Amino acid sequence: MVADTIHVHSHLAGHPTYHLFGHQIVLDVPLPAIILSTIGAAFLLRYTLSFFRLLLELIVLPGKNVKKYQSKNGINKTWALVTGCTGGIGIEFARQLAKKQFNIVLIGRRKNALDEVAQELESKYGVKTKSFVVDVAQPGSARDETLSQIELFAKSNDLGVLINNVGASHVMPIPFAETERSEMNQIVETNINWTLYLTRAVIPSMIIRSSKRGAPKSLILTIGSLSGRIPSPLLATYSGTKAALSTWTKALAKEVENKGVEVELVQAAFVVSNMSKIRRSSALVPTANSFVKSTLSSFGQPRGSQGRPYERTPFWSHAILDYLVGFAGYLSEITGINVINKMHKDIRIRAIRKAKKQQLQKQNEGKKDL
Ligand SMILES: NC(=O)c1ccc[n+]([C@@H]2O[C@H](COP(=O)([O-])OP(=O)(O)OC[C@H]3O[C@@H](n4cnc5c(N)ncnc54)[C@H](OP(=O)(O)O)[C@@H]3O)[C@@H](O)[C@H]2O)c1
Repeated sequence: MVADTIHVHSHLAGHPTYHLFGHQIVLDVPLPAIILSTIGAAFLLRYTLSFFRLLLELIVLPGKNVKKYQSKNGINKTWALVTGCTGGIGIEFARQLAKKQFNIVLIGRRKNALDEVAQELESKYGVKTKSFVVDVAQPGSARDETLSQIELFAKSNDLGVLINNVGASHVMPIPFAETERSEMNQIVETNINWTLYLTRAVIPSMIIRSSKRGAPKSLILTIGSLSGRIPSPLLATYSGTKAALSTWTKALAKEVENKGVEVELVQAAFVVSNMSKIRRSSALVPTANSFVKSTLSSFGQPRGSQGRPYERTPFWSHAILDYLVGFAGYLSEITGINVINKMHKDIRIRAIRKAKKQQLQKQNEGKKDL
């Protein structure tokens, strides 16, 4: 058989000729250009496929349900523990997990508020509740005692879900060089130390509960923040603690994944709450109710966190934002840092102006009273 000759433009002399499986291939395009366009095409294909997957997960595919963490034998037997559950995202986790017939362990620092939440959950959803009153930012014997009680509770009950939701941030955006040590402590104790100590207190029981063949899985879900993903100037301490939680989550997840305990970080951008100080929802800022709904209905789907193990960005607009941040590596990150820097500077100016106005109002009211 006569070998074929493939000419792209064979009239161009001096171009490299290759022999492949009996064919003679004459190239009129330089080899480096071919290599580069192949790499380019591979990247384009990768991003097209991953964007397609993002859309599929957001619009079409159903996620796994949170009920998979419930014990099959015994109705209303499994407990879910939610920290910071007297407001914001936490109270929504408590409500929506109770609606799915989890009994709820409530953790907060205000007894009256905890009692109200407990009563609401018991009467509305017919579940059991157990409350622990503790200021999670205060190291000392009271916090240690609460941790011991929770450890005991986990040993003697079917605790299947831990939602590490409680978090503290700065009162307003502030340069690190001006941040008070008390504010740093409040943030580090709440976001890091408490989260680690609490998880350490319950995880051995979860391993015993879930490591046997056929046993229900357990879940440890920690609420992260895009401030931990994109370094956030003027919230440096908060941003650093959320980044630390992300790395901790992944290391722990690997340690226990073969023992039936799933550990994951859920990413969030702005959500309507006291912490964000945003009162009205929009496409970019969901209510806590919508945010939690998307979180509890999309297990197994990374959405905006594609390519990052043990992590999810469930709410649709946060997912697209997160996806775009990951799109162009260094360029996306440095652009993100610059945009956030400008945004936080503006917020700080407005917050200082508001605080001065409130102080003036107070002084005037004080004068009237005299
Ligand atoms: N909102 C957002 O835009 C946003 C964005 C990204 C990530 N997140 C993360 O989402 C999580 C929840 O935030 P959120 O917006 O729902 O906050 P939030 O509205 O301020 O609610 C925080 C909850 O935690 C409780 N809490 C705070 N400090 C406590 C302490 N020292 N001891 C005991 N309980 C304490 C609060 O209790 P009290 O009722 O007594 O204050 C409240 O129940 C946090 O981890 C946060 O970092 C929020």
